Amino acid sequence: MFITFEGGEGSGKTSVIREVEKALIKKGYQVLVTREPGGSLVAEQIRQVILDSKNTSITPATEALLFAASRTQHLEEKIIPALNEGKVVLCDRYVDSSLAYQAYGRDLGFDFVSKANNFAFKHMPNITFYLDVLPEIGLKRIKKRDDLNRLDKEEISFHEKVREGYFKLLEMYPERIVKINANETIEVSLNEIMKVLEERL
Ligand code: TYD
Repeated sequence: MFITFEGGEGSGKTSVIREVEKALIKKGYQVLVTREPGGSLVAEQIRQVILDSKNTSITPATEALLFAASRTQHLEEKIIPALNEGKVVLCDRYVDSSLAYQAYGRDLGFDFVSKANNFAFKHMPNITFYLDVLPEIGLKRIKKRDDLNRLDKEEISFHEKVREGYFKLLEMYPERIVKINANETIEVSLNEIMKVLEERL
């Protein structure tokens, strides 16, 4: 079972994933928690290049290709082997992030980004939880952090565009993507997610 978590900045994905992991381990599942961009040695090195605030000259196309490269490495090195071992894989972001941020947010278009992610499209998640947060709420939550990356620092209009991108993806993949309210507390999001998982696992 391959489960991914998506959402805008400050949607609480990371905290929610930690709780889902605990709940699944309690139920006796073997779980691998991982994240994108990154999740393996090489993929984490690509992550540094993409997210470094100093790299303001990265073009949108280069950004999309780097995310795709990092994803391919992560998929082959970590995700596929874990799935083959029968583990439940919980991944913080996956190809939907590239579709929302690069295809829609950066206006690169669905075609270019999906071609670059051809390999990932052959290994799609069974379920994707999209944690929907209003950009003004999400950005307020992350303001307190002192490690804001190049994408966190984008204008609110960019984050609004990314959110619209996720809405388009919800229409395109209604079976796979489940929308979760992330404007309240972690507990509210977690309850909604566990209800769905109890039905589907
Ligand atoms: P990260 O610090 O992992 O943020 P978050 O906690 O929000 O997941 O940074 C990842 C950033 O990269 C985030 O702003 C989303 C962005 N991103 C893309 O633009 N495209 C992608 O394909 C992925 C995986 C992430």
